[in-house]
Amino acid sequence: MTAPPWFSPAVIEALRAARHVAVLTGAGISAESGIPTFREALTGLWATYDAEELATAEGFARQPRVVWQWYESRRAAIRAAQPNAGHRALAALADLVPRLTLVTQNVDGLHRRAGSPDVIELHGNILRSRCSREGIVMEAGSTSESPPPCARCGAPLRPDVVWFGEILPAAALVAAEAAAAACDVFLSVGTSNIVYPAAGLPWSAAARGAPVLVVNTTAEGQPRGPNIHFALGPAGAVLPALLAAAWPRA
Ligand code: OAD
Repeated sequence: MTAPPWFSPAVIEALRAARHVAVLTGAGISAESGIPTFREALTGLWATYDAEELATAEGFARQPRVVWQWYESRRAAIRAAQPNAGHRALAALADLVPRLTLVTQNVDGLHRRAGSPDVIELHGNILRSRCSREGIVMEAGSTSESPPPCARCGAPLRPDVVWFGEILPAAALVAAEAAAAACDVFLSVGTSNIVYPAAGLPWSAAARGAPVLVVNTTAEGQPRGPNIHFALGPAGAVLPALLAAAWPRA
């Protein structure tokens, strides 16, 4: 049996008193749903697959069928996956604090399926497609071998996700930065915190003095500083324990 996670009393106090909590999640929160992360040494997607070929507009232009099929296989895995206790704890947190801003780098839609309202998706959503020429979002639906043509202009559809070298959806980024700049507590959950601009959000909160709680299976590579606290362990165990520690009677 593993020991229950320890939480800094300062974080628990700040959570109870918080008017606005901001949360940033990454691939680690969906790991317990069976969806691989990106950067873990043996199991991460980028350990096996070439991000340059599969997650750039240039790679898509070179090999549209290969890229489309890779995303189709990820879509199938995501559709078959279920939200886990970590996603559900964040959905419950929305009812425990006056205001919660949930920002995710994940494209899997599992926060919404767990019941979180108003999820800010910084990197898009893999279950949607959009026209690679005009950007119009279309229903994915298709399981074809190659990218289906846009119904309007005939250009190939692509997954509605942000690829390397592309800018993030402006409204999502503005809302995420505003939350980091105004929140009373910031939770950084299951992210390696190295892909910017998302990785700048916890820094921005900590720099103003808001406590940041990093929930991760490892502290390696994570930001360090006076306002940065850690709760190490799988998000599916740590987040329910965090809620139980802060609101024992909820
Ligand atoms: P990474 O794969 O970089 O990091 C996943 C993090 O989750 C690591 O720090 C792990 O230690 C941690 N982790 C693994 N299992 C966990 C668990 N059960 N509970 C808590 N933490 C756990 O994924 P991201 O940080 O999300 O972008 O990567 C950021 C972006 O880089 C992604 O959105 C994607 C990727 O390339 C694009 O595709 C644009």
